Amino acid sequence: MTAVEPPWALLAELTHACPLRCGYCSNPVRLIGRSVELGSGEWAEVFRQAGELGVVQTHLSGGEPLLRRDLPELVAAADTAGLHTQLVTSGVGLTERRLAGLVGAGLRGVQLSVQHAEPTAAERIAGAHSFAAKERAAGLIRAAGLPFGLNVVLHRGNLDAVEELIALGVAWGADRIELANTQYHGWAARNRAALLPEPGQVERARETVLRWRRRLDEPELVWVAPDLLTGTAKPCMGGWGRISLTVAPDGTVLPCPAAATLPGLDPPNVKDRRLAWIWRESTAFNAYRGESWMREPCRGCALRTTDFGGCRCQAYALTGDARNPDPACHHAPDHHLVPLRRTSTAATHRETPAETRREARREALMEPPGEP
Ligand code: FES
Repeated sequence: MTAVEPPWALLAELTHACPLRCGYCSNPVRLIGRSVELGSGEWAEVFRQAGELGVVQTHLSGGEPLLRRDLPELVAAADTAGLHTQLVTSGVGLTERRLAGLVGAGLRGVQLSVQHAEPTAAERIAGAHSFAAKERAAGLIRAAGLPFGLNVVLHRGNLDAVEELIALGVAWGADRIELANTQYHGWAARNRAALLPEPGQVERARETVLRWRRRLDEPELVWVAPDLLTGTAKPCMGGWGRISLTVAPDGTVLPCPAAATLPGLDPPNVKDRRLAWIWRESTAFNAYRGESWMREPCRGCALRTTDFGGCRCQAYALTGDARNPDPACHHAPDHHLVPLRRTSTAATHRETPAETRREARREALMEPPGEP
């Protein structure tokens, strides 16, 4: 048996609670409640084991990780374990004092999300008053001298504002602007009809990015292509069980954040097993590792070493079988199943992505109650 290389990155989903209600969120539709989140000591042990296993960096994510009052403690534990820590945040709840505490604990970088360059549109997508908090957070991150990434998830509601979004990132002093077309998992899959771009939107946005790249060397502009529209499968997670692992708020360990949707995966939990065993030996992490699980045409395709067969969760969502070739690929027998346009009746209403999601998300986080 080939030795399994250690993972590079750990996505630590500290909580699924969030002050925003973005319709493109890839959190699972069945959000994990606050009462079953791992405690501070349990997270510290996860980071310790991750360091031992060879993990280099951890993304402290959510939901909104700032809702964890013990966040400085968690950052310190990850730092002590030798992990490079990046906070992935909406910016809501970030104060000068809070950030100073996190930097003192060992925080090395921040990725801030923004939904639109225009405040009213941004707040309509986010489903909450948040733009001023984000602007303030950007200033604090800059003043602290931390590496600063701005993340924008792109969809029908903001693809036409890419020009303004890049200008906003430049004005806010971002080192890196990630323009990521929506990946349809979790809430985003549920809201797909409202999120799918109109014809021409993606191409116009891509041309805008190329134009800015020709004008500026900095900030770095990252364009994450929409695999459903390009006819090519994305190398999801850099390959299943290959470079990264996700720990959900309750300690479930997953090869990707959406993998809990796959039937029969039986994902392990850090409360029952050591991370090293989970990574190397668990059924969940070996299910689609390497190439032996692949079917034709992936099995004989030259791209299998670069796209790793595409996305298993998408293959399952669109075809009902996670072993099938990812329908995003134009060679896949099920490519015709790719939803290229808004098709459902929901798309004929005037709803926004946030509105389609908001009520359901609120219900999910009402139990157990609110604040940490
Ligand atoms: Fe799970 Fe792509 S999101 S494999």
